[in-house]
Amino acid sequence: MDKLLIEGGQCLTGEIAVSGAKNAALPILCAALLCAEPVTFTNVPQLKDVDTLLALLARMGVKIEREGSTVTLDAAGLTDPVAPYEMVKTMRASILVLGPLAARCGQASVSLPGGCAIGARPVDQHIKGLQAMGAAVDVEHGYVRVNASRLKGARLVTDMVTVTGTENLMMAACLADGETIIENAACEPEVVDLANCLTAMGAKISGAGSEMIRIEGVPRLHGARHRIMPDRIETGTYLCAAAVTGGQVRLIGTQASSLDAVIGKLTEAGCVIRCDPDSIHLSAPRRLSAVNLRTAPYPAFPTDMQAQFMALDCVANGAATIRETIFENRFMHAIELQRLGADIHIDGNTAMVRGVERLQGATVMATDLRASASLVIAGLVAEGATMIERIYHLDRGYECLDAKLAALGARVQRVK
Ligand code: UD1
Repeated sequence: MDKLLIEGGQCLTGEIAVSGAKNAALPILCAALLCAEPVTFTNVPQLKDVDTLLALLARMGVKIEREGSTVTLDAAGLTDPVAPYEMVKTMRASILVLGPLAARCGQASVSLPGGCAIGARPVDQHIKGLQAMGAAVDVEHGYVRVNASRLKGARLVTDMVTVTGTENLMMAACLADGETIIENAACEPEVVDLANCLTAMGAKISGAGSEMIRIEGVPRLHGARHRIMPDRIETGTYLCAAAVTGGQVRLIGTQASSLDAVIGKLTEAGCVIRCDPDSIHLSAPRRLSAVNLRTAPYPAFPTDMQAQFMALDCVANGAATIRETIFENRFMHAIELQRLGADIHIDGNTAMVRGVERLQGATVMATDLRASASLVIAGLVAEGATMIERIYHLDRGYECLDAKLAALGARVQRVK
């Protein structure tokens, strides 16, 4: 299994391009299941999670053409609406095939994803929504089995804000009979990107990006071309990395408007940030100031940036409180950061972090995608060498991480 060796202490400077968003690409690729014509996607990031999803779609009978970051999917010959456990267990987002399959095929059998390192992560809201649209849904032998003739439009109110839940139900509603209203919908930019793609395919959607989404069902969708939005979490991760090293970077091909909360916190930490239409320039002080934060659904501070900011607070001047409100077990990185000399105290869903003058390199273990990113950030600023084990987590969600960091002057090496 690959490891990442980082020699800390280099100031990150320079310019890199941001990739397409993982969390937009995954639902959007699933949207191709909704129609029997080819759909072409550009700016698709080359990531392990994308490979896993494409393998799952191929298994169902979807034809795939992939050239660099352009992927064309043709689900005309969709034969087998099944997502087996072996594939779903490696990537929870596979549940995103459920809504499209229910709508297009009237049946689906999708393995329950189960829990993961950051929490239980049930999919009851996805199921409840499909039931409200008239589908018969059973959970048997670890699989969600859906049967429906044509789904019927309905008024859906989710118990909590769920991103993939909103996406699944929005996709299902596109082919339903009549109007569906999703209330308490997720407002994440990736939901908007998916809605834009569905609209290009002929869907009738309004309100995406707000808490109420209206979808007027149509009998069928058609082929289209869609460019995946830039990855706001990848952007935020490199901004944090540059910030802790006292660096100066320019990230191009990104969208500052999707990062208000993150940019606000980096500014509060002492960075000077300039946003242009498709780029962000960050200039960091020699030492950052600690920042308090609380994760919540968009547009508040994203849980997917919590771990990276914990690394930032570990070396900042002062103390900070970090509250995680989305996932119940998302502080796994704290224990590893402590191995690098961080001063962190955890109490339930709150972490108290006291900045230290410096961290020391050590061997640490990545536990999930964003936790791994926080260890990379800590390694970049730690004294000496940090070896990060299990970096397959990083390969799931960061395209060419080592090459991009190296382009900014970091001393990183992938050890096979
Ligand atoms: C998505 C993102 C993930 C991000 C998360 C929160 C993708 C592929 N992944 O995950 O990177 O960290 O949003 O921004 O886009 N919940 C239930 N029942 C449900 C659904 C969710 O109880 O049916 C709970 C979850 O356990 C969690 C909270 O709701 O506590 C939010 O989860 P959700 O927004 O659904 O996360 P994902 O869509 O899985």
